[in-house]
Amino acid sequence: MSKKLLILTGFMGSGKTSVGKIVAKRCGYRFVDLDAEIVSAAGRAINDIFATEGEQAFRLLESARLEQILTAGGTCVIATGGGAVISEQNRALMRARGVIINLNVSLDHVLSRLNKCTDRPLLAGENTLERATKLMNEREQFYSDADIRIDTDGKSVEDVATEILCRLKGF
Ligand code: S3P
Repeated sequence: MSKKLLILTGFMGSGKTSVGKIVAKRCGYRFVDLDAEIVSAAGRAINDIFATEGEQAFRLLESARLEQILTAGGTCVIATGGGAVISEQNRALMRARGVIINLNVSLDHVLSRLNKCTDRPLLAGENTLERATKLMNEREQFYSDADIRIDTDGKSVEDVATEILCRLKGF
């Protein structure tokens, strides 16, 4: 596999971070979690950024950090945040720089995985199902535009990582 940047996209709760760590380890690549990078650069939690500055401010931080990571060089597996694909600029950069691997997940799985989770501001509060459905429908066009798409429902993170490594052989 000659590609140096493996970029994982997918809805919240699709397993990008867990799968990304395994893929990185098996490839001998560095692992980078975009959300963790934003938190560390901003010195604040994602909930905090959303609450005080709003989603738009978060998106600017997200795009800036993504660009830094994608242009830094070296081999790396990047787990993006679920909303990184909504920016056209982010999508163009991801497409130009790496292999885009989408982890496809059903809403049922997302909701059961994130049931007790409090660190997803877009799903917090009332009407979670309606909001998650809307977000997923809006983003499907972007998630589906990937080099590799893996259905993750009912699979372990190890199995998903193995499937990615098999599919990467063509790249
Ligand atoms: C978001 C997903 C989150 C995080 C933020 C916004 C989204 O990342 O970036 O809460 O818009 O889908 P995960 O996909 O890692 O949960």
